[in-house]
This record gives sequence, structure tokens and C-alpha cells, in this order.
Amino acid sequence: MSKILVTGGTGYIGSHTVVELHNAGFEVIAIDNFDNSYPDVIENIEKISSKKLNFENVDIRDKAALKAFIAKHNDITAVIHFAANKAVGESVQFPLKYYENNVGGTVNLLQALQENNINNIVFSSSCTVYGEATPPVDENAPIPVAQSPYGNTKQICEEVLMDQTKASDLKVVALRYFNPVGAHDSALIGELPIGVPNNLVPFITQTAIGKREVLTVFGDDYPTPDGTCIRDYIHVVDIALAHVAAINYLLNKKYTEAFSVFNLGTGNGNSVLEVIQSFEKETGVKLNYKIGPRRTGDVVQVYASCEKALNVLGWKTERDLANCMTTAWAWEKALAAKNSSSN
Ligand code: NAD
Ligand code: UFG
Repeated sequence: MSKILVTGGTGYIGSHTVVELHNAGFEVIAIDNFDNSYPDVIENIEKISSKKLNFENVDIRDKAALKAFIAKHNDITAVIHFAANKAVGESVQFPLKYYENNVGGTVNLLQALQENNINNIVFSSSCTVYGEATPPVDENAPIPVAQSPYGNTKQICEEVLMDQTKASDLKVVALRYFNPVGAHDSALIGELPIGVPNNLVPFITQTAIGKREVLTVFGDDYPTPDGTCIRDYIHVVDIALAHVAAINYLLNKKYTEAFSVFNLGTGNGNSVLEVIQSFEKETGVKLNYKIGPRRTGDVVQVYASCEKALNVLGWKTERDLANCMTTAWAWEKALAAKNSSSN
């Protein structure tokens, strides 16, 4: 049985991926420093998987601790590297935090892997690397200058990984996620935004549950059919399943290049108003929203071409926007029930 290391394993996408790795029969070892997640995620993963999760609290910025951890687990066959900070606005305010954690942490990880001859890694990249591109965006679209330090860390990490494949036996799959949303069907794991959410779907569910008074739609004067921005919203469980496909691709040596990159999206774009309408239709909850000014830095529309992931990884999405809305809502209600019982 192959042993897979998942960094950031108690985070939003990491936790769903650990579950799908368990479902696929992999042995998993996860690390996290709980910077943006909580230890109780571990028991919820275990409940869903009916399997104990091998977990250690390791900070990837701590090179010595990371090296000691990897040396102890040198039978790891592949790594999925999620651990990073991801708030675009915060990255503008504190760029060094982002370069230290996202880039420095990745370099630490690669050094520890090289010392132990571990040569397969799946990296969490983002559609943010494409900036304002003409959709559907494929993997050959140009990579413009990054619009934020966060976006830059993703571009730099891809380059670091590519350079390292040229200098060693390392094999890399970089997955560029579009907009991950939704939660596990069990409503035991999901997204846990700390403070006021930046992202649309958590803001919708928090408004619907009464945690926020009103959702502001950031601009309705864009050159799109209803004037609001268009994104490719993809269910987090579909994203998790793509990681299992990427691991199989690496372990079965299906690659023709040492560094491969794939978009993870649905191939469909939805406007902000369409997402709100879908939420209202699927949940029966009327949402309090208003139209406000544009948000600085938003691209007008972006959605993926997903042909490459289908043709090469044999992966495509199985869940639609409706399912994203119902699972995100069930998760928000489960959080509210948990909070009211602990008060
Ligand atoms: P998340 O914050 O929920 O998960 C990241 C996890 O990494 C957290 O549990 C956090 O505690 C942990 N972590 C952060 N720094 C660490 C460190 N130094 N050592 C150990 N653990 C550390 O975020 P997510 O949404 O699950 O994102 C996972 C990855 O996917 C990130 O690399 C992110 O940049 C990327 N990504 C996310 C999105 C998105 O919209 N969610 C989009 C594109 C790419
Ligand atoms: N939106 C609102 N109101 C809100 C929140 C969002 O109208 O309260 C709109 C945004 O303007 C945008 C859409 O909803 O049009 C989606 O916004 P998100 O913040 O959910 O997602 P983004 O596409 O803006 O951001 C995502 C990732 C980032 C990444 C960025 C790059 O969350 O990590 O894509 O494009 F950097």
C-alpha cells in the first residue's frame, strides 16, 4: 500500500482529499500546524473514513522539524502539498509572511524530500496565475505578472518545482484550481473561513444563517450578460478526487514530462447572480443581498478548459452548482448547530 504525505491535511481541500485517499485505499500521513484549521477536523475525517488518521503537528517553515519528520517516514511514496496561506488581501499587506510560508515552506519540503529520495509531488496551484485571460482558459495560456504576492507565490513555486525536476528525479503535477466550493456530503468537514469571508459562497451561507446582515455583490456593470463577474465554481470533493487521479498518474508513471500542469474546473462559468439564484432555489432560503461597487483586482470572467485533465488524468467533475450550494448550506447549518450546543 502506498503511503501518501498530505501537507495542510486538516485544511479545507486537504481534509476532503485525505478522505478520498482513504476511500481509494491509500495509507495517509497528514501534517498541519493549525494556522487555518482545527484539530477536531482529524476526528471528523476519521468518522467519515472509518479509519484512524496518522497525523503530526509539523510546521513546514521549521526546516529541522520537517526534515526529521520526513526522515522518520522515508517510506512515503508521494506528497500532496496544500500547506500555504491563501488570503489575497492579506498577502498584499504582509508579503513576507506569504513568501516565507508558501515559497520557503515549499523549498524546505523539497530539500527534505530530496534527502530521502522521495520523488513524487502534487502541488496546489491556482487559476490566479492566468490573471485576466480569455476563457475557456487552457494550460498553455500565458502567465502574466502576478496581481498579488499570493498569486506570485504560486507562480514562483511552479517555477521552483519545474527547475527541481530538471536537476533531480523529481516528478511534479501542478493542479491549478479554479473556484473550490461546497462541502462533504456528511457535513462533517467543509470550509472554515476565519473572520469575515472574502469568498462568495461562504459569504452567502453566513448571510443566510444570519451571521452577516447582507451580501454585497461587487459590481453589476461588468461586460457579462447580467453585469456580474463570472467564475468556474468547482465542488471540493471533485477537486479531492482529482488529487487521487494525480497520485495514480505519478505512481503508475503515466507522465511523459517531469513537470505536468492541469486545470481543475468544470468548464462552465457562472455569474455572481446565478450563484445567488442557485443557492435560493436549492435551499429555499431568500438571501439578503445588495449591489455594491466593484472590488479592486477582480477579473471579469474566468473559466477553465478541462480537456487536458480529462484526456490525461481521466478526471472530470461529477457534481454541479446545485450540489455545491446544498452541501455548503448543510455545512453552514452543521457549524451553527455545533456552535449553539457549545454555548
Ligand atoms: P486552508 O487554509 O483551508 O488549508 C491550508 C492548510 O495548511 C491549513 O490547515 C493551514 O493550517 C495549513 N498550513 C498553513 N501554513 C502551514 C505551515 N507553515 N505548516 C503546516 N501547515 C500549514 O486552504 P485550502 O483552501 O484548503 O487551500 C489549500 C491549498 O490550495 C493552498 O495551497 C491554497 O493556496 C490552494 N488554493 C486554494 C484555493 C481556494 O480557493 N480554496 C484556490 C486555489 C488554490
Ligand atoms: N463576490 C461578491 N461579493 C462577495 C464576495 C465575492 O460579489 O462578498 C464576487 C467577486 O467579486 C467575484 C466572485 O464573487 O466576482 C467570486 O469571488 P471569490 O472571492 O469567491 O473568488 P475569486 O475568484 O475572486 O478568488 C479566487 C480565489 C483566490 C484567487 C483568485 C484569483 O479565492 O484564492 O480566485 O482569481 F487568488
